Amino acid sequence: MQKKKIVLTEDEMPRQWYNILADIKMNPPLGPDGNPVGPEQLAPVFPMNLIEQEVSSERWIDIPDGVLDVLSIWRPAPLIRAYALEKALDTPARIYYKYEGVSPAGSHKPNTAVAQAFYSKEEGVKRITTETGAGQWGSSLALAGSLFGLEIEVFMVKISYHQKPYRRAFMEAFGATCIASPSDQTESGRAVLETSPDSTGSLGIAISEAVERALQRDDTKYALGSVLNHVLLHQTVIGEEAIRQMEMADDYPDVVIGCAGGGSNFGGLAFPFIGEKLRGGKDFRAIAVEPANCPTLTKGKYAFDFGDTASLTPLVKMHTLGASFVPPGFHAGGLRYHGMAPLVSQLADLGIIAPRAYPQLRCFEAGVQFAKAEGIVPAPETNHAIAATIDEALRCKAEGRAETILFNLSGHGNFDMQAYTDYLAGKLYDQEYSEEDLAEALDNLPQVAGG
Ligand SMILES: Cc1ncc(COP(=O)(O)O)c(C=O)c1O
Repeated sequence: MQKKKIVLTEDEMPRQWYNILADIKMNPPLGPDGNPVGPEQLAPVFPMNLIEQEVSSERWIDIPDGVLDVLSIWRPAPLIRAYALEKALDTPARIYYKYEGVSPAGSHKPNTAVAQAFYSKEEGVKRITTETGAGQWGSSLALAGSLFGLEIEVFMVKISYHQKPYRRAFMEAFGATCIASPSDQTESGRAVLETSPDSTGSLGIAISEAVERALQRDDTKYALGSVLNHVLLHQTVIGEEAIRQMEMADDYPDVVIGCAGGGSNFGGLAFPFIGEKLRGGKDFRAIAVEPANCPTLTKGKYAFDFGDTASLTPLVKMHTLGASFVPPGFHAGGLRYHGMAPLVSQLADLGIIAPRAYPQLRCFEAGVQFAKAEGIVPAPETNHAIAATIDEALRCKAEGRAETILFNLSGHGNFDMQAYTDYLAGKLYDQEYSEEDLAEALDNLPQVAGG
């Protein structure tokens, strides 16, 4: 029998997060006046201990015992060699995937939800508001909130709210409140509904609603499931585990692949490897894969923009399609975000990572091919990473090269059966985004000196 799973014991769990800000410099976020924002300006929205992490440039940050204790419910996550997929593709490439679907919510998102809930609790926060696209992040924060005794309120992008009733039930089982966004419960939501009563919502709108609610009460803070430096930091446990597991397999990746919505599962896997490379380690290619109809890295501008539609967040320099851009309603809800993590954006700008975009149908085709070979139905978001992995494996075959490909299986698709039902019934199609809407959203980017 071939040894498929490379596993670490609980004792071998990483004890520190890797902070890539020790190895690259970054533009600070700006306030509406164009000046850098200080911690005190972020304090109404985020707990101070997380703000400190956001701006820290320490290379290694200790993971508190209280966080490790909860992470150990499912971590360390296995690294799996995809022998059956290799065989199906008849490729000389060695394909490995880090399987994050083993978490209780079914994806990588609890890695940061647990940390954010822990730090919020430490600061006396009683309630956390947030947004969710696919429902994975809302489920993760609901789970973490329940474990740490916090009230959780989730604004769920309307299209997903209707596509995924079981995600709602999952959040509610943990005692969280889940509201379809845009909603009539916030000024930002009502403003959208006034001009677009049939809006299917977007992550940008849901973020505005959640931030607005957090600003209303002193005991309430807001948590974001991706994009921010501290979120990507918490996800680095994935890559750190993977480094040790690749060592155990006596191998090292030539290519590291992750799907990219806000950039956290991609960064979580790739940053520890990129850190090694920046400090003189082995070279490899890092590929961030996004949807062709929300092509932030491949078609967006690298500019200062707001993280939400109502301009409540600071301005951050990132690849953006414009905060007012609402992508068409496709099935990878977690990838429907107008911006990209500033850290991932900067690495793309420096040429350290290579972005790539795939249309929806190609991704589902890849996901089904993977499921048939490896026995796991991936989340629609993850299918983007799989499409790129298959293309890379086929390139290796064409070139006769036995390269090592490592990708992040960011989540399983067991709650995404409507998407698979539609795909298998031939009801999915590749809907183009509107070039006019994109041009308009980019025209509306805030004017920032030097941006
Ligand atoms: C399974 C899965 N993968 C990927 C993503 C994209 O997010 P990120 O780019 O932050 O990893 C999501 C977001 O909800 C998700 O649920």
